[in-house]
Amino acid sequence: MRSSEKNMTIEEMQKSHARGFYPGLHSSQVEKMVEQGLIGSFLHVLDYQEANYLQSLAQKSRLQIPLLIGIDAIHGNGLCQNVTIYPTPIGQASSFNPELVEEASCQTAYEVRATGAHWAFTPNVDIARDPRWGRVGETFGEDPVLVSRMGVATVKGLQGDMWNHPRDTFVLACVKHLVGGGQPVNGLNIAPLDVSERTLREIFFPPFQAAVDAGAFTLMMAHNETNGIPAHADQWLMEDVVRGEWGFEGFIVSDWMDIERLHNEHRTAETIEEAFVTSVNAGMDMHMHGPHFFEAIVEGVRSGRIPEKRVDQAVGKILESKFRLGLFEHPYVEPAVSDSILFHAEHRRTALELSRQSIVLLKNDGILPLDPSRYRNILVTGPNAHSHAQLGDWAASQPEGNTITVLDGLRKTAPQTNFVFHDVGWNIRKMDESRVKAATAAARGCDLAIVVVGEYSLREHWMDKTCGENTDRSDIHLPGLQQQLVEAVYASGTPTIVVLINGRPLGVQWIAENIPALIEAWEPGSFGGQAVAEILFGEVNPSGKLPLTIPRHVGQIQMTYNRKNTLSSFQYAFGESTPLYEFGYGLSYTDFAYSAPELSRQEIPAGDPVTVKFTVTNCGDRAGDQVVQCYLRDDYSSVTRLIKELKDFRRITLQPGESRLVEFTLNPDDMAFYDRSMNRIIEPGIFTVMIGSSSRDQDLQTVSFRVN
Ligand code: BGC
Repeated sequence: MRSSEKNMTIEEMQKSHARGFYPGLHSSQVEKMVEQGLIGSFLHVLDYQEANYLQSLAQKSRLQIPLLIGIDAIHGNGLCQNVTIYPTPIGQASSFNPELVEEASCQTAYEVRATGAHWAFTPNVDIARDPRWGRVGETFGEDPVLVSRMGVATVKGLQGDMWNHPRDTFVLACVKHLVGGGQPVNGLNIAPLDVSERTLREIFFPPFQAAVDAGAFTLMMAHNETNGIPAHADQWLMEDVVRGEWGFEGFIVSDWMDIERLHNEHRTAETIEEAFVTSVNAGMDMHMHGPHFFEAIVEGVRSGRIPEKRVDQAVGKILESKFRLGLFEHPYVEPAVSDSILFHAEHRRTALELSRQSIVLLKNDGILPLDPSRYRNILVTGPNAHSHAQLGDWAASQPEGNTITVLDGLRKTAPQTNFVFHDVGWNIRKMDESRVKAATAAARGCDLAIVVVGEYSLREHWMDKTCGENTDRSDIHLPGLQQQLVEAVYASGTPTIVVLINGRPLGVQWIAENIPALIEAWEPGSFGGQAVAEILFGEVNPSGKLPLTIPRHVGQIQMTYNRKNTLSSFQYAFGESTPLYEFGYGLSYTDFAYSAPELSRQEIPAGDPVTVKFTVTNCGDRAGDQVVQCYLRDDYSSVTRLIKELKDFRRITLQPGESRLVEFTLNPDDMAFYDRSMNRIIEPGIFTVMIGSSSRDQDLQTVSFRVN
């Protein structure tokens, strides 16, 4: 591998997704450059030994400025070894539990520091509006309010109170990718975005602004262009919006080879040097990696094309972060500290709890929870039943024993039951037809079959994955022979349930129609298999809710709950027009009843808040969590509005028979929108408040107030 880095061409490097080799440059020369003070930052250093070594080289440089080391620790410090891996962000969002996400992020910060890094390239607050896109799993879904809450929780957990109390347990957060990568043309990563300023401001900007308000110190620009301007050259975005309107005070970093892309793909810069100058002048502070940047910037300043103060501003912020992180005092990681922090028992507990809360029960005709006395022999099969797929993108396979797969979890949770594993291999792209067919026979001898299917996102098998970064799809059916597998097992006549482990929504209509129980586990992390098993056997009552809409098939894209009214004026000529599962939806083993909502006032002057309250009761015989949701609609307005928008939510725990009074306050900003001249205003008229257990109309109760 080390020789290939030197022989790599510029083109090969630009196409390389995972490794930042520089053509003509060997890693041994990099060591020299650090000693010369020519490199100030690294990414993807995977253990503290290497980090300490690099820091020791930096200490030999003239100014002895410590290195800032970044890594994609987006659901735990997953690219490293022996670390805690939490559910991927789409699962975290399904928990609708920002406090727990904050706790997981705080623990992640400890594990990042323990491997010698100081900067996590997260939260990814892209709004996901196209399930073909491979990166949906690393987002918090489709809703601006939910994504904002989760993004803020991540920033708070990672950065803590670093700005007031610098400590070596916090890391820098990096809110990304500004903007709009989650709605790429044709679902393909990096593809352009053409969108109105209204949609940018209503849908895509709020989570970024919320993360900036919460103190996120770094921000990463998006690969894509928006309305003809590549993000990496967009002065309006970086200077006017981010720094001007939002008051961002940290530094902006480029994404992988994206400044170069201004020249070689967007073709807005005639040379790579020009691309560097343009991007820095537009507001870019740090180049993620790649050769020739340094020389181009020095030349740009010398020739007067880049004002020196622009460079001072960028460098000043990067230095500030190194001071705040305490790197000048403590550039090294103590080995004993590292070993005691990674995969800490408390972190493992949080990861398991977050998995439990992230799993969504989509269908249950009464077969769940499983009665162990009824099912003695259970077939377990499917590519994801006993594989590391559950760790998700931006994670590496972990040492033996650190991951509890669904098969492991079942054996642990129901030790009296005989689980028969029919192995069809982990590789979804290379499924063997004969093993798929043999599943019918395997199921025949059993009382129940659990089929675990979905997608595979681990980047260590870049050519074999079906999901994750740069693995986009032209349809959203189960890939490989998995549909055939489910149908083969079902054909045996043995009762069958399906568990999905996947990073993007899948249009599993046949399964939803034919299989009695369906669980969406997303990519639930190190202990995901245990959480799935506990839910199947009723030790845990499922409580996750969908953070996005699941369409039936690609023809329905773009399908989000927060749509305009005319989007459903007509129906498709064939097949159904409705989604398969709606945003906010998820079942429990108990039932919850909502009282009629009451408003604090029926009429308010514009600018006043209004409060809605109601009682939620657990009417079943098991304790359970309910995610109570509050939506709002402006009934008539001078520009068209969305049919409903989530404004607030709360996860509550209720014992059997217990009731809880829930109150939400709708603030003036919740009622405001951008008028024809893009002024943010509140218009007089009727507003409808909707409260309930999902975004589906049948799960909501409404009440209205008038703004005068
Ligand atoms: C991704 C970023 C990531 C970076 C560094 C890029 O390809 O778009 O999200 O932080 O790589 O790994």
